[in-house]
Amino acid sequence: MQRPRRNRKSEVIRQMVQETHVSAANLIFPLFIVDGEKQKTEVASMPGIFRYSIDNLLREVESCMNLGLKSFDLFPNIHDDFKDKYATESYREGSLYLRAISEVKKEFPEACVITDVAMDPYSSDGHDGIVENGEILNDETLEVLGKMALAHAQNGADIIAPSDMMDGRVGYIRKTLDDAGFKHVSIMSYSAKYASAFYGPFRDALNSAPKFGDKKTYQMNPANQREALIEANLDELEGADFLMVKPALPYLDVIKLIKDNTELPVAAYNVSGEYAMIKAAIQNGWLNEQRAITEVLTSIRRAGATAILTYHAKEVLLNKWL
Ligand code: PBG
Repeated sequence: MQRPRRNRKSEVIRQMVQETHVSAANLIFPLFIVDGEKQKTEVASMPGIFRYSIDNLLREVESCMNLGLKSFDLFPNIHDDFKDKYATESYREGSLYLRAISEVKKEFPEACVITDVAMDPYSSDGHDGIVENGEILNDETLEVLGKMALAHAQNGADIIAPSDMMDGRVGYIRKTLDDAGFKHVSIMSYSAKYASAFYGPFRDALNSAPKFGDKKTYQMNPANQREALIEANLDELEGADFLMVKPALPYLDVIKLIKDNTELPVAAYNVSGEYAMIKAAIQNGWLNEQRAITEVLTSIRRAGATAILTYHAKEVLLNKWL
């Protein structure tokens, strides 16, 4: 008789047959930045996650580096006074975000700095594209994304991550970077990014919620799986180095589908709402923290993600949970 339980009978054997592992090298830590000095303010809906001014950001990066966590995705909280319809703050020399990129790279050249390319934190409309008569313009937006990506590269970004879901952005950004001599800068594309309810806490953190309407004309319908392949194939053809799925947990089938249809590494973004949900249950004593968090990360790896962007990245290493 076949007895699969034999392979579960001791800890040594269970570890011997374990198929999936998560390690520090797979993790990318998203970090929120604010203007000012000595700032470290917690995001109300994301316990344990803070917005840092650049001085404190550098100390936070240092403590992560000491834990072996070396990849960071930076996101700026921009004051309303600096927002406009064309997100010009996103490529202004000396802006908060560009200074943050260059200071992290200057102090920690061996860190991998991933930068977010999208208009929303800088847009007075709170959208990821230029708005005209209530419509989100595509090709006009690409020009802004190109300027933004170039500014990130000039300040030392290792990987550019376009997160806006405009058509043709990967190809446009790739050409812009190549033409300016930044052939070595990678692109991690948010290929299948869904119009999800799970971004709420992130928009609180950055004060970046749309001022009207929703993002359904550019982000994907949560009901669609095959459409993710169209997006992933286009990004691959346009020159992406990584294909990302976002959110992660409600879209494990999409991670698996894309993984089965590409040779590129697949990334997944375990987003703010997924983090908030887990933390709320833990705070209520309804879930075991270590077990719930490691199970989430293992599941995302098992589905096929090589890299995981997760707000849990630091705590799993600090507590030696992996
Ligand atoms: C915006 C962007 C969003 C996230 C990353 N980049 C939110 C949005 O599309 O509104 C969400 C990340 C998270 O929820 O953790 N370009």
